[in-house]
Amino acid sequence: MYIENDEKEYEISQLDNKKRTNRSSLKKNGLLHDKILSYGDDTVSNKIIHGENLDVLKLLQEDFSNAFKCVYLDPPYNNGESYLHYLDNMEHEKWLSNLSERLRIIKSLLSEDGSLWLSIDDSEMHYLKVMADSVFGRENFVSTIIWEKRTTRENRKAFSRNHEYVLVYAKNALKWSKIRNTLPLTAEASDRYKNPDHDPRGPWQSVSANVQAGHATLNQFYTIVSPSGVSHYPPKGRCWVYSESKMMEEIKKNNIWFGRNGEGVPRIKKFLSDRKAGLVPETIWKAEIVGTTSDAKKHLLQLFTDTALFDTPKPEELIARILKISTNPGDLVLDAFLGSGTTCAVAHKMNRKYIGIEIGNHIRTHCFSRMKKVVDGEQGGISKDVNWTGGGGFEFFSVDK
Ligand SMILES: C[S@@+](CC[C@H](N)C(=O)[O-])C[C@H]1O[C@@H](n2cnc3c(N)ncnc32)[C@H](O)[C@@H]1O
Repeated sequence: MYIENDEKEYEISQLDNKKRTNRSSLKKNGLLHDKILSYGDDTVSNKIIHGENLDVLKLLQEDFSNAFKCVYLDPPYNNGESYLHYLDNMEHEKWLSNLSERLRIIKSLLSEDGSLWLSIDDSEMHYLKVMADSVFGRENFVSTIIWEKRTTRENRKAFSRNHEYVLVYAKNALKWSKIRNTLPLTAEASDRYKNPDHDPRGPWQSVSANVQAGHATLNQFYTIVSPSGVSHYPPKGRCWVYSESKMMEEIKKNNIWFGRNGEGVPRIKKFLSDRKAGLVPETIWKAEIVGTTSDAKKHLLQLFTDTALFDTPKPEELIARILKISTNPGDLVLDAFLGSGTTCAVAHKMNRKYIGIEIGNHIRTHCFSRMKKVVDGEQGGISKDVNWTGGGGFEFFSVDK
């Protein structure tokens, strides 16, 4: 699954010598606890684990079956690229079977209302979809999200690939559809609510009062006379959404809008104050909302002034949106391809519990250092959005070979 560029060795000099001599290793289910690389409050049970994810996932099965509410995976995409911290070039069948082995275990680690979010690009997307369908069942495939990962044109290729995908699976799609969160109303969406008639119930927007007539009953076809005396009949192939008696009641309650001059086609008033449900997530995730790869790199540049930049980080906003939809504070999140540590950083700031697994030495140079800064109140990424001021902690483990 992974070939490491081994020039990165952890800088022991960074460590406090006294602490290091006190280092205690604690065997816990085949994992060695590294006290030196653990940081902050150790009662919170967040874990960062250095090792081959297959080994770790198998170890987790003992204590974490049905435990994770959300698993985010951002594996090497097998797109033939060579990155500074890992190579991304494997024989196709091997790449697929390696990932399939991991997905089978991950399914057993997901809670009954849990979900899996898989990042991928064009190179292997369709093969991955078919494979993941076979593990989770086609009925548990939820959606494909398109993430706009760059906003500039890539001129060296036949097409400028400006997007990637996130495949969403649920352990049980029916259960998941009932528990998944909606997204908070954006300023843009709430701006659409106005109050042209000074309704004391506050701002509202209007939606169509006619619907397709496919399943209509006879009492949905009638003439509505507007306050100014204009008659309206539903357009061809459509009927009114309410029966005549219900429509008359709604008109009396001032819930139907006939335009400023009282002559327009009737529409239903929907009030902002009734809008408790939030927004159903859409499948196109724009860069302006969830950030780009380049935004993520800029954030890493602020975090690591003297460490080689990680090539393929995800922006914190992208992961935050995934966690907003799939989890609540206190829920457990897993990332088995941790990279520069984005998922753990976001989960930490959003008050979720987490386990992150990474095979490369950048788990020390990047993940550990990043998470230490997060605990200390780092202010990049989503920090301001979630009013992050620091706190909590994590424990560092490595696989006991
Ligand atoms: C695309 S990067 C993940 C980037 C991450 N989402 C971020 O925001 O920084 C994939 C990571 O998976 C790691 N990896 C690859 N194979 C692995 C394996 N078998 N076990 C654990 N980590 C692995 C690589 O070292 C690399 O850091």
